[in-house]
Amino acid sequence: MQQPADLFDPRHYAAVRKPLLQAETMPPWSYTSPAFYQREVERVWRKAWNFLGHVDQVAKPGDYLALEFAGVPLIIMRGKDNVIRAFANSCRHRGTALLDAGSGNCGLIVCPYHSWSYALDGTLAGAPEMQQTEGFDPAKNGLIPLRLETWGGFLFVCFDESAPPLANWLGGLPEKLECYNFDDMVLARRRVFDMDCNWKIFVENAKESYHIATVHKATINKYASVRSAGYWVEKPTGEYVVTFAQHDNSMALLKGDAGFPPIESLAGRREAGGTYAPLLYPSTYLACTIDCAWYLELHPLGPDRTRLVHGALFPQSRTRRADFEKLAANYYKRWDITIEEDIVASERQQKGVNSPYSLPGRFSYREPLVHAIDNWVLDRVLDPA
Ligand code: FES
Ligand SMILES: [Fe+2]
Repeated sequence: MQQPADLFDPRHYAAVRKPLLQAETMPPWSYTSPAFYQREVERVWRKAWNFLGHVDQVAKPGDYLALEFAGVPLIIMRGKDNVIRAFANSCRHRGTALLDAGSGNCGLIVCPYHSWSYALDGTLAGAPEMQQTEGFDPAKNGLIPLRLETWGGFLFVCFDESAPPLANWLGGLPEKLECYNFDDMVLARRRVFDMDCNWKIFVENAKESYHIATVHKATINKYASVRSAGYWVEKPTGEYVVTFAQHDNSMALLKGDAGFPPIESLAGRREAGGTYAPLLYPSTYLACTIDCAWYLELHPLGPDRTRLVHGALFPQSRTRRADFEKLAANYYKRWDITIEEDIVASERQQKGVNSPYSLPGRFSYREPLVHAIDNWVLDRVLDPA
């Protein structure tokens, strides 16, 4: 299908806007076009509260993460005062990136170009040979702070100065998830995958169960006896969509594998018998099941490149058990197998939509959230009518 010149004319998306069973899927160029991707960077990623990992990644003062997100090099750092802050990873002298991408611990950030240095709270600590520079005020040359807020042990960064606080973005979700006691959970393992697909392709996959019988036929389909009457889509009260699936055993284990006991704080609750799975827009998948939780954090790298981070969360007391690693390995096995299956499916879809012969398709009743996600993106990417 030919990409039109007037890419953001709402008429090209009118079919996606219809109710699910009358609608068409997104036009193929929305997964391939650099211009469409750039519009998403500007109107989605640079406006949203972006999920960027877990506080356990910066557990001690001086711990930092340096990464590029939606084209912005940034630093997340825990200060000596234990406050976690985010900064633009650009020196105030001539703009050099201060820290290489990755994680580490430091007492001072020193620029590798002319050795300006910054304290952990971002203030300029030293600027050699700047005494003669007229009107140079060190107090006005600290690192550029970015908005960072946390909830439930998760880190969120927002590039939009005028956006309402994180609490508005999350809406009623913290209350819904209170029973899982996220503050008590430990990030036990973090695994990074680089994928050759558009971010929406992976997110759409994460929020439909239609593919499970095919893509996961040898794995989760075998054990996840989700009761058909026990699967529903809940009305969101913030920037998310959510499903709840009722089933007996942990959704995070393959059939027959041993695991941990149920999360104590779920006792007597509806959530004790299933998996509560919100997709926090734009792209963070959370799955809270009977005995643990996990997240899928996406970093958009380009129209057809996406980084996926899988985070495994267990209640703190489980991680202190002598048999923790042995039992956790069963969960890791399940996640590694199924994530790989989803990555194969997503990269295969990307190959197909790259074709000039690819056309929009139609939705099954099993794909309401794919439709909802696509419309959420269009609400932001297109100009208001
Ligand atoms: S660019 Fe950083 S000290 Fe010169
Ligand atoms: Fe899947």
